[in-house]
Amino acid sequence: MSSKYSRLDRFISKKLLIKRGNIRLLLAQQRVQVDGLNAADAAQRIGPFNQVIVDNIVLQEQLPFYIMLHKPVGVVCATTDPHHRTVLDLIDNSAYPNLHIAGRLDLNTSGLVLLTNDGKWSKGLCEPKSNIDKTYQVELEHNLNSDYVSAFAEGMYFSYEDLTTEPAHLEIMTDTTALVKLTQGRYHQIKRMFGRFRNPVKSLHRFAIGSLILCEDLKPGEYRPLNDTELAQLNVQIKQAR
Ligand code: URA
Repeated sequence: MSSKYSRLDRFISKKLLIKRGNIRLLLAQQRVQVDGLNAADAAQRIGPFNQVIVDNIVLQEQLPFYIMLHKPVGVVCATTDPHHRTVLDLIDNSAYPNLHIAGRLDLNTSGLVLLTNDGKWSKGLCEPKSNIDKTYQVELEHNLNSDYVSAFAEGMYFSYEDLTTEPAHLEIMTDTTALVKLTQGRYHQIKRMFGRFRNPVKSLHRFAIGSLILCEDLKPGEYRPLNDTELAQLNVQIKQAR
């Protein structure tokens, strides 16, 4: 994972072990290309997904990947785990190297998980101020009633973190099922919120992150790259939040 940006002269100097002062000469001689164009500015910012070539030697060439995965219950959102398969174990690492998870789900939660190699993107998506809502389908042990709706909307005080949860939207679907929309992701947040009513969660499934809906064709354990429209819509939401 890399979200680091560097000046072009510093980048080349590190890669080729040549003095930064000599890089101006390379630029003047048009021996450096960034994304297919001759580079002239030593201070040009280079990010992880810019292609950089010096004298026909490719110094960096990496495509960004944005993957939606249908996480099954029993698979852990972690890079490694001694006891369970991880979401990264489900993905072909040779096709999609260097992925990390953009927003975790609990072991026994299923549904939409995003993975990427673009650290700047996942930071924008996951930071608390992003306010991008996540929608969950919840099945409860006991019946729901309108008290739940108001308690979720008001927010609940969690003494362990000393915070009150952001207003959350709860829509009762049947006696024991609901849709919940959260803009934050505190530890076991939904289970703890229903725990206030001594109503255990039987199953929890995330089916949307902002405008992005888990593709119905994906069975648990399957994944695919986001298409251009999905990515563009999510990017609008990430930008709006900044
Ligand atoms: N809330 C939970 O309790 N678990 C999740 O995985 C996500 C939200």
